[in-house]
Parts: sequence; C-alpha cells; structure tokens
Amino acid sequence: MIHKDLPLTDIHRHLDGNIRAQTILELGRQHNIALPASTLDALRPHVQVTSLEPDLVSFLSKLDWGVKVLADLDACRRVAYENIEDAARNGLHYVELRFSPGYMAMTHNLPVAGVVEAVIAGVKQGCRDFPVQANLIGIMSRTFGETACEKELNALLAHRDSITALDLAGDELGFPGSLFLNHFNRARDAGWRITVHAGEAAGPESIWQAIRELGAERIGHGVKAVEDRALMDFLAEQRIGIESCLTSNIQTSTVPSLERHPLKVFLEHGVLASLNTDDPAVQGIDIIHEYEVAAPAAGLSEEQIRQAQINGLEIAFLSAQEKQALI
Ligand code: ADE
Ligand code: ZN
Repeated sequence: MIHKDLPLTDIHRHLDGNIRAQTILELGRQHNIALPASTLDALRPHVQVTSLEPDLVSFLSKLDWGVKVLADLDACRRVAYENIEDAARNGLHYVELRFSPGYMAMTHNLPVAGVVEAVIAGVKQGCRDFPVQANLIGIMSRTFGETACEKELNALLAHRDSITALDLAGDELGFPGSLFLNHFNRARDAGWRITVHAGEAAGPESIWQAIRELGAERIGHGVKAVEDRALMDFLAEQRIGIESCLTSNIQTSTVPSLERHPLKVFLEHGVLASLNTDDPAVQGIDIIHEYEVAAPAAGLSEEQIRQAQINGLEIAFLSAQEKQALI
C-alpha cells in the first residue's frame, strides 16, 4: 500500500509513453490523421499493451500512435500539461517526466528544440494549475542512432536550465551505451544528472558500462543486476538507485512473472530501488496499481514497499530546496 505519511514519487515515467487514448483520438480528428480506429474502445488495443509483448522493441512500438498525432507544438504542449494533470490525479507529490524530443518531432518533422520548449511550457503550466512538483529528464532515443541522439542532445542543451538529467532509452540490445560516450560527456559538462536504461534487454555488463563510462547515478530497470553479485554489492555501496517498473518488465517479457521479479532481492541487498510506472497509459496501469497490486505480487512485504517509497525520494533528482518543499 501507499504510505500516506511519506511523499509519493514516480521518477521513471515517459511523458511520450503516457498520452491518453482520448487525446490520441481528439488530436487525430483535429489534424485529420487516419487512426486505426475511431472509438476509444476500438483504439485501445492499438495504443495499449493488451497481452505480453515478445520483447522490448515490440513493446516500444505501442508508443508510436501517441507520437504520430503530435502534429504541431501545441499538441506537444497539451500532452505535457495532461501528464502533470494525471500525475496530480494519481496522488503523486513529485514526478520526473522524461521525454524524447526527437521521437516526438519525428512524424511531422517538428523542430526538435521547439518540442523541448513546448514540453517545458506544458509542464510549467501544469505545475501552476495542479498540486504536484515535477522535473524533466531529456531522453536520447538510441533506436535512431548516434546522429539523431546528438540532435536531441543539442535541442535539450539549448534549454539546459529547465532539464534536470539525461537518459538513454530505446533499443538497448541494438544500440549499446558505448556508442554514446561523447553525448554523456557533454551532458555531465552541462551539470546534468545521469540515468540510463540498462540491464533491461541486455545483461549486467550494460549496467557496468552505464555507470563506469556514461556516469550513470541511477539505472532504469536494471533487472539483470541480480545476475552479478559484485554489481549488486557495488550498487548498494555506491548508492546507485534503481528505478524499478514492475508491470513494464512483465509486459516487455524482461521478467517472466512478478513473483520472479528481482525488486525484492534488490531491497534485501540494500540497493536503493524504487517503484515507478514507465509508460502508464500504454501499459494500462498507474502508480497506485504498482504499489497496491504489483508490489505485493512481487513478494514485497509492507515494510519493503515502504522502503521502496522512501528510496524514490532518496534517489530523486531534487535540489536541496526542491526536496525541502516536499517534506
Ligand atoms: N521507452 C519507453 N519505455 C521504455 C522502456 N521500458 N525501455 C526503453 N525505452 C523505453
Ligand atoms: Zn523507461
């Protein structure tokens, strides 16, 4: 259960993986974009995971309709704003929203820096209108290669003060972190925090690489760490946070069942692992489901769920001042 005496955070949530099905319908109509269905019920199976996907890449294709309707910058601003509204509705006190501006810009050839600006504006307006704090994490979508990632990075750096951290997401197996050393050097020089999707589709070596070569202070998913005892020790000793997303890991076939999810082992080992969503609209879940349904099914005791909630705040990319405002 959610512990009401503690702030509730979600520090791994993709804004572009959390576009309401209703908004996809409305933007499709507004911009004359042909969608695979014209009612909410008929559209759902196209934009939401309805059964297990065979792998990460096929799971990621479920995000495509959401970005295909981003026909202008106002649409980008709208989905950013709605993300904040939904976070507040879910009872979150603090959310870290991550987004890939190149992916959002891709279908309609929008200016990538304009997308970054629109997302920042939507989030800022949302934070004025709803009782939730937020920070933004820029994503480089590795699936589109090094050059496309450089463009995303440049656009994000143009707004460096409104972005808290850099992440690398997408096809981990096809595009290893070693391709992005220069990108992360630039991000660290800009003073950004670093988190990397690693140990989701690839093995523990991908996590080591993210930490040692990309400077990751937190790891997205990181499930494969459990296969490497030295890495588990290292994560605990160095206080490197794990952003766990239980339902996502089942839906991507990363983990065969919740009972076999390593989150419990991480917590027993003293690793700072937290509970998060990933792409809630695409997954058909929310943070409440992860705390109330998924975490108990993964074998976490109430005390461990509480610890995961504490860890979410502990490893959040919050300044001392922002943290003070939360507690
Ligand atoms: N983008 C959205 N969700 C993701 C995930 N689970 N892994 C990698 N990239 C993603
Ligand atoms: Zn993710």
